[in-house]
Amino acid sequence: MFDSTTRTLVVVGAQWGDEGKGKLVDVLAEKADWVVRYQGGANAGHTVQIGEKSFVLHQIPSGILHGGVRCAIGNGVVMDPETLFTEVDELVADGVDVEGRLYVSERAHLVMPYHKLVDKASAASKAIGTTGRGIGPAYEDKVARRGVRVLDLRSPERLRELVTTGVERANAQLAWSGSDLRASVEETLAALAGLTPRLLAIADDVGLCIHRAIRNGAAVLLEGAQGSLLDIDHGTYPYVTSSNTTVGGAATGVGISPMALDAALGVVKAYTTRVGNGPLPTEFDEPLQTQVRTLGREFGATTGRARRCGWFDGVVVRYAARVNGLTGLAITKLDVLDTLDRLAVCTGYTIDGEVHTEFPADLQMLDRAEPVYEWFDGWKQSTQDARRLDALPSAARLYLDRLEELCDAPIAYVSVGTRRDQIIGVHATVA
Ligand code: IMP
Repeated sequence: MFDSTTRTLVVVGAQWGDEGKGKLVDVLAEKADWVVRYQGGANAGHTVQIGEKSFVLHQIPSGILHGGVRCAIGNGVVMDPETLFTEVDELVADGVDVEGRLYVSERAHLVMPYHKLVDKASAASKAIGTTGRGIGPAYEDKVARRGVRVLDLRSPERLRELVTTGVERANAQLAWSGSDLRASVEETLAALAGLTPRLLAIADDVGLCIHRAIRNGAAVLLEGAQGSLLDIDHGTYPYVTSSNTTVGGAATGVGISPMALDAALGVVKAYTTRVGNGPLPTEFDEPLQTQVRTLGREFGATTGRARRCGWFDGVVVRYAARVNGLTGLAITKLDVLDTLDRLAVCTGYTIDGEVHTEFPADLQMLDRAEPVYEWFDGWKQSTQDARRLDALPSAARLYLDRLEELCDAPIAYVSVGTRRDQIIGVHATVA
């Protein structure tokens, strides 16, 4: 994957999140020197299966599971210090050596306890179906230029000032939402004080570290969270998260030049899922909905919510390939489809009698969209032991060939199970 020309690689989700980026990052991190998260926060849930053990990482890059790889949380992330250190302590308890390998950008904004209270109480968050992790309210404070950054922890007076304003505003929002809960300045400061020494010990200028690493020839993997259709600009707005999940967000969220990015791998499921509300044109009806959800164990890693499932949507992934400039695709969970009699792939939408093959920005148009399907025979045998493309049943290869053609990006990986070794590498590189 990494070679003499591909040194900086971005891994993004090319659907609505939960595509299996954690597994891909874990596989690719073996050859990386650095793995950096660039947006989102504890709303993410990257699951990595190693042997019998399953690790769910919310904020720490999946690269941490490879000794020797250095991991960083970039300035574009909104970081929840409480859950960060819970995660660190759990990893250490599981025998993962984190010491000296984890850095946090001093420019990253903090998710405060009051952001989580507001997120959970707000009617707007409920309508979108947020994770309740305080992501939207923390990004709101960032964009409104009143957020608390990691570096503010170095200055107690400034911190008190920012927290006092933040708590006042949050309490007004809680009252407005009809909630009885209130945040407290002293409790917020006390909770932060307990974490400050640990946090400042790993705070650094991450942009500069990564710039220097790239200049010295390091292999750098930038790990996206959520998916392209949840991007604040390019997703199904307003049913999106509050950050730029797409490749453009990687450069700004780490603090390096876009010109430093060499390749972009888009991770997609062999079907489609989304958690939370908002359009999902290819959503299954029952009984297929429950069947695929059960086969794919489609329940959120962060909230445990049941994911909505549907057929592979070629319009969505081709759009994501364009917006991200994907140089390769990783198709995950092919094995989940092993027992189906037949499968459909969406090639366009009929809207008001006209066929559209480009993803519309207007959700009202999407509401009226009827997917145009192409049907495929199921392969009706296990793909889990395949380690080469030619070991897959021919019906599965036909299906994959069509996905590649529709999405206009070459398939670089096919994942056929949850374990690290259950993966087919199609090309040597995706660049
Ligand atoms: P928020 O990011 O918690 O504000 O939630 C906004 C939307 O993004 C909701 O529909 C969430 O379900 C969705 N979302 C956020 N994080 C993830 C994720 O890691 N996977 C899938 N969906 C997510």
